[in-house]
Amino acid sequence: MAELCKISFPGSEFVPITLEYHKNLSEHLTIQNSPVLFGCRTGICGTCLVEVLGDIPPPQPDEQEMLETLAPNNPHARLACQLDITANVEIRRI
Ligand code: FES
Repeated sequence: MAELCKISFPGSEFVPITLEYHKNLSEHLTIQNSPVLFGCRTGICGTCLVEVLGDIPPPQPDEQEMLETLAPNNPHARLACQLDITANVEIRRI
């Protein structure tokens, strides 16, 4: 059986959802089930900027470069469309 990760959205009215490891958030989060908004889904528009708490892999260089521009002082900032979900995470919109 595949391992599951819980994606929760503290501070919002949305209930946690459960996804299998390595699922792409941008394919599973919608305006009905999460506070996260998506635009390009390829890591270039910044619409999906969120704060993430959880033990997931660090940003790839392209994502890191965007984060340094969009949220230079937030070590938890990530682009939701670029996340590789490998653990339970808490996600907040910034
Ligand atoms: S949706 Fe455009 S950067 Fe994530």
